Amino acid sequence: MSATPRILMCAPDYYGIEYEINPWMHRDNASDPAQSLWQWWALHDALRDLGVVIDRVEPIPGLPDLVFTANAGLVYRTTFIVSRFRHGVRQGEAPYFERWAREHAFDVVTMPPHLHFEGAGDALFCGETLFAGYRYRSDARAHQWIGLRLGVEVLPLELVDPRYYHLDTCFCPIADNAAIYYPGAFDDYGRSVLHDRIENLIEVAAEEAVSFSCNAVVVGRTVLLNEGAPKLAHQLQNCGYAVRPLRLTEFIKAGGSAKCLTLRLDGEEAAAWKHATELAIF
Ligand code: ARG
Repeated sequence: MSATPRILMCAPDYYGIEYEINPWMHRDNASDPAQSLWQWWALHDALRDLGVVIDRVEPIPGLPDLVFTANAGLVYRTTFIVSRFRHGVRQGEAPYFERWAREHAFDVVTMPPHLHFEGAGDALFCGETLFAGYRYRSDARAHQWIGLRLGVEVLPLELVDPRYYHLDTCFCPIADNAAIYYPGAFDDYGRSVLHDRIENLIEVAAEEAVSFSCNAVVVGRTVLLNEGAPKLAHQLQNCGYAVRPLRLTEFIKAGGSAKCLTLRLDGEEAAAWKHATELAIF
């Protein structure tokens, strides 16, 4: 295994606002196909310029949200746990992501049928621990099932604001002891868990959280995120990160941004198991 970052993406050929399953989506606020393509390629090229190898899953007509590959599943070492989407309109995506994972030699795991789980959108490693959002999309029981299956500690966090319906819209680990988060998306208990368990927490203000600024992709010491979060950018720079703002307006119309458009295949920067693997090799 190499240390080259690897990310799965899906081009927005058939992307659009065709249904409404979160508070951001309005069919009468259509995305612009040309702008979507342009914005998606800008993210793709920015990642490629950082040395990321980009794998691509083929776009499929009738599956407009397939672009949000963070929801394909959860990757842990060579295991790929395929998502089981809550809403019928997204359930057709799972077989395509599953097929992709099988063709790329992952050990594919499927969930018991009664559990909902929306992949890396709701399950993010920070250090050894899997932080897991539930209520709007994934079930808390699905996270427990995953914890047992992978043999990792899972901390379920209830999401309390429907605008932040996936954990990756309000929480982003940036190192194995550091994360950014929007406190208003969690209840008191969730906030206390985050404070107890993550040494360095950067709070995002409400007016910047609505710009999807927690929905960031971390590659090494660079953070790519939607534009419109100058305060957060400043804080990240003070912590030694380079910040790369991108214009992702067309995807925000579907309730997604930079992070949702990517699935890290070799382990997030913040995942301790990724670093353990690297240490074992070098
Ligand atoms: N329209 C999609 C949905 O509601 C957006 C998914 C965003 N993905 C994410 N990982 N937050 O499911």
